[in-house]
Amino acid sequence: MRRRKYCAILSLFLSAVTFLLVYTSEPVSHQPKWTTVNSTSAKGRQGHSTVNSTSAKGRPLSDMNYVKRHTPNESAALEKFQADQKFVQSIPTEAPGWVYNQSAADLFRRKLINDARLDNGNFLTTQENSPLNAILKTLVPSLNPTKIKVSSGVFNLFPKESPFKTKKFQTCSVVGNGGILKGSGCGVEIDASEFVFRCNMAPMYDEHLTDIGKKTSLITINPTLILYRYHKFSNTTSSTKTEYVKAFVRDLSAYGDSYLLIPAFFNSGSVKIAFLTRQVLRDHSARNEVIFPHPDFVRITQSFWRENGLGDKRPSSGLVLLSTAIQICEEVRLYGFWPFHADRNSARLTEHYYDNALPTNAHSVPDEFRQLQRLHNTGVLRLTTTACQRQDNIYH
Ligand SMILES: *[C@@H]1O[C@H](CO)[C@@H](O)[C@H](O)[C@H]1NC(C)=O
Ligand SMILES: *[C@@H]1O[C@H](CO)[C@@H](O)[C@H](O)[C@H]1NC(C)=O
Ligand SMILES: *[C@@H]1O[C@H](CO)[C@@H](O)[C@H](O)[C@H]1NC(C)=O
Ligand SMILES: *[C@@H]1O[C@H](CO)[C@@H](O)[C@H](O)[C@H]1NC(C)=O
Ligand SMILES: *[C@@H]1O[C@H](CO)[C@@H](O)[C@H](O)[C@H]1NC(C)=O
Repeated sequence: MRRRKYCAILSLFLSAVTFLLVYTSEPVSHQPKWTTVNSTSAKGRQGHSTVNSTSAKGRPLSDMNYVKRHTPNESAALEKFQADQKFVQSIPTEAPGWVYNQSAADLFRRKLINDARLDNGNFLTTQENSPLNAILKTLVPSLNPTKIKVSSGVFNLFPKESPFKTKKFQTCSVVGNGGILKGSGCGVEIDASEFVFRCNMAPMYDEHLTDIGKKTSLITINPTLILYRYHKFSNTTSSTKTEYVKAFVRDLSAYGDSYLLIPAFFNSGSVKIAFLTRQVLRDHSARNEVIFPHPDFVRITQSFWRENGLGDKRPSSGLVLLSTAIQICEEVRLYGFWPFHADRNSARLTEHYYDNALPTNAHSVPDEFRQLQRLHNTGVLRLTTTACQRQDNIYH
């Protein structure tokens, strides 16, 4: 059972809620921790902020419960490690002396997506490719997708055109959340790229920066995380709502003014959360531009991967993210994409660089990893699965 994914995507369901609130933005500390919302005391205390951004490890309560529930006990973790340890020995090492092969990369881009409406920087849902009254189809259920009609309200949530339309970055880092990053010292190398992608609002605590860097150009968040960490901004009283929104805005500030990419069109529930998030951030004048990958782009990408090595397994969101990166970047460098609980030296690894919580649903991870190695070996992108040149203390 060596299965997991790089950034979590879970299924979800919910009801729609809309609201408006007044929020006065506060200065944020240099490196904010996760914000804890004390929902017991927040209830019914009008205007009294109980957000605590400096509490123990700063994790939101809802998140702590989630992590606890999904963290295996020692014997289960050991079993996973031993199975992965054996498996890792059977994986060939990547070809040494990597060089970028532009013609191979261009060929791969064309094979991945051959649709002028969505290729290059046009992978987003925009007013240009999703005009008024257009119909957007969710990915799930695949046989009978929910149809989202682009009403004027929906239309106004989309950017006029893709901000990446004419942009091509020379170098990009895509940071997966794998435990292999812990102690890697890859921070400086990651930050040296022109554009840095990060996954699912992964923590950026000071103790991680040497390994993961601190630059973020684009951060993703899955609607399910908005659901269980911020209760999709909905709760019984308006003051709790405010707390969740404030907590979200504050947590988001760890990524500066990066783009916030939300995979909105998974199912009808995720669409509602994504649109609500866009609205909330707009109401609070957040600096982050919210962007949604076009559902047809994700559909095409997913079927490409199914036909190329994954069979009927749904590709992980990490794989979809790197498919996005390769649209707007020449050289793509992957970090933290090592889906095993052991490294090549048989050292034990946690699931993520920040915790050991296992995901709840499965992707075909060894198959995905094989594809990444193939892309590395053909010069399409560079996969880093070892420690980087140590340049400690730069961030201390
Ligand atoms: C939440 O607030 C209540 C009331 O102020 C307090 O008793 C409780 O200890 C707080 N819980 C946490 C986890 O901070
Ligand atoms: C925040 O949490 C920390 C640690 O639990 C506590 O010492 C501090 O008093 C709290 N601050 C506020 C404003 O509640
Ligand atoms: C550890 O977890 C496994 C799988 O979840 C379970 O079967 C086992 O009983 C647990 N062992 C202990 C000692 O709690
Ligand atoms: C680069 O990729 C192209 C297309 O796959 C291939 O024909 C060529 O041999 C590669 N060049 C090098 C130096 O590997
Ligand atoms: C409201 O908040 C409480 C406490 O955090 C949580 O248990 C409950 O599930 C939330 N309700 C909704 C509808 O999100």
